[in-house]
Amino acid sequence: MKLDVQNLPSVYVSPFLPWEPKRAWLRVRTQHAFHPFHVTTRLCLEIFWIWRGRLFFDEARVLDVGCGTGILALVAAKLGARWCVGVDVAREAIGRSRENSEANGLQERVNWVHGSIEAIGGTFHTVVANVPWACWEALFDNIVDCVAEGGALVASGFQDLQAPLLESFLHQQGFLVLERRQGDLTFFGVPPSGSFTWCALLAARGTMDGASPTSAIGNSQNRGRREEFA
Ligand SMILES: C[S@@+](CC[C@H](N)C(=O)[O-])C[C@H]1O[C@@H](n2cnc3c(N)ncnc32)[C@H](O)[C@@H]1O
Repeated sequence: MKLDVQNLPSVYVSPFLPWEPKRAWLRVRTQHAFHPFHVTTRLCLEIFWIWRGRLFFDEARVLDVGCGTGILALVAAKLGARWCVGVDVAREAIGRSRENSEANGLQERVNWVHGSIEAIGGTFHTVVANVPWACWEALFDNIVDCVAEGGALVASGFQDLQAPLLESFLHQQGFLVLERRQGDLTFFGVPPSGSFTWCALLAARGTMDGASPTSAIGNSQNRGRREEFA
């Protein structure tokens, strides 16, 4: 099925329908991983497309927290990032992300880590995190610590009710919120949260210029195994 994101080149997500082209800019299989048709993924992709020149310049190093199918890291690589890391607590997500990177010929530029954000050390020019609100509450410090001085954070997975709190945490950490995008998800009844509206933020740490990330050293949570990148 074609994923429609304003002006983004053609991204197809399984199931692939017989009348759809065999070749596309990106093809992503989902199986047990989080399905990227969700509005939170699309909001991140919209921000990626609008800000691509600033987020994914030639030398950019990108971290995708809660990578699911790997779609956000893969799109970042396609948009020009030199090197990306995706991390997810779900083993199926890492397997799917690896297969998707190989199917799209991006395996040389993307690494996948099975574990939580605590498994990742070092800093990145751009960090994207589309994770549940509970994860933002528990791991906010770990996530923002991965953003290099002068780098950017694309944050999603939360609702309009939670956005002001997250923005205020970001301000306290020296981030400037550059953009807030939102989209609705339709249900037959009112969702437990009371809101239909999901959000994504783009926030810059400093000016988003002159980011200078250090090397990223991961420490896989499940086995205490260290992952060394770069
Ligand atoms: C909303 S999905 C996003 C998937 C993908 N990034 C996307 O946008 O389509 C959230 C993902 O975060 C993962 N996750 C949840 N808690 C996590 C944690 N503490 N560390 C890393 N990943 C986590 C889940 O397994 C899930 O794959």
